[in-house]
Amino acid sequence: MTQAPQEEIQKQAGKVLQQVAGYVGVRTIDIGLKHGLLEELSKHSGGLTSDELARNAGIDPFYAMVWCRSAYANEILEREGERFVLAPHMDKLLLDDDFPGHVGGLPAVLLAYDMFDRFSENLKSGERSWWDKCTPEFIQGVRTTGRSFFNRLVPAGVARVPGLLDQFEAGAHVLELATGAGFGISKMAQAYPKCTFVGVDGDAYSLGLAAEAVKEAGASDRVELVESTFEDFTRDSEFDVAVISISMHECRDIEKVTANVHGALKPGGCFVISDFPFPETVEETRTVPARIMSGIQFFEALIDDQLLPTSDYVSLLKRHDFKDVDAFDITPVHAVTHGRK
Ligand SMILES: C[S@@+](CC[C@H](N)C(=O)[O-])C[C@H]1O[C@@H](n2cnc3c(N)ncnc32)[C@H](O)[C@@H]1O
Repeated sequence: MTQAPQEEIQKQAGKVLQQVAGYVGVRTIDIGLKHGLLEELSKHSGGLTSDELARNAGIDPFYAMVWCRSAYANEILEREGERFVLAPHMDKLLLDDDFPGHVGGLPAVLLAYDMFDRFSENLKSGERSWWDKCTPEFIQGVRTTGRSFFNRLVPAGVARVPGLLDQFEAGAHVLELATGAGFGISKMAQAYPKCTFVGVDGDAYSLGLAAEAVKEAGASDRVELVESTFEDFTRDSEFDVAVISISMHECRDIEKVTANVHGALKPGGCFVISDFPFPETVEETRTVPARIMSGIQFFEALIDDQLLPTSDYVSLLKRHDFKDVDAFDITPVHAVTHGRK
């Protein structure tokens, strides 16, 4: 047996250790978010020593020092003398959930029991799960992550779909499938005050949160919430626009749902699918965005589906007689596919 050259072993070891280091970074960010350490640092542009952070955040000074050093090592913090300050743009990226590029919801989603722990438990049995079995922390994490998708869709994504902004501004009747905890429908209701909405979701707990979100947005009189599977929800030529965000891949019967949406739209009505663009080929999955999406596939597997490539949605809409079908990427983890009845 020939011995692999030392450099090759080191290179391969580096690939493993890079993953372990990433894990340390994720846990460090998660602690910083959960315990308000990043928030506290964001209030001090000149930074804080770890002792000052400990005092302000009410945590143990020794632990504060360990956390600060790890956050520095993972480039979440910079140092100015003895003080630690947030690295550039980390306030936006991790703390501002209205910033379209916000990624601060990801650690909570990835660390929730619902992703890897349940997968590991069910690995042998292959037992599947569903949204009603999800922990509240996971649903909250999904809500925060889903929020960034809507913050990219409204207004920037909407403006890129020909004619859609005009419809929203004129006052469309809008169907939202997968209303979830209701951030999207509330955001659309606030952005487009002439529109009326029907939000559909199969999960009662999420719809309860959605009702609160809609009320807070002052839009209860323009939003109807319906508990139903997408497969069972049918209406006849009622809506001008139908939107679904990060959920089309979850349809139990995607052909039926697409036919339902086609039937529910008025002639000329627009169907907008906002979703993760999973790579077409296995070879394309070795990028940072695709590695994160490969992680999301663990949860999707538990609910018996997988994220799909954008080209699947394009063919789906064409197969169901949608016209002017097109798609664009907003970010490497966010694509929009659209077509008209
Ligand atoms: C990933 S969450 C996204 C929620 C929301 N769009 C967001 O961005 O936060 C998916 C939601 O779709 C719902 N859902 C998935 N498949 C469904 C189906 N076939 N029928 C009804 N609801 C479904 C789930 O209950 C869950 O609330």
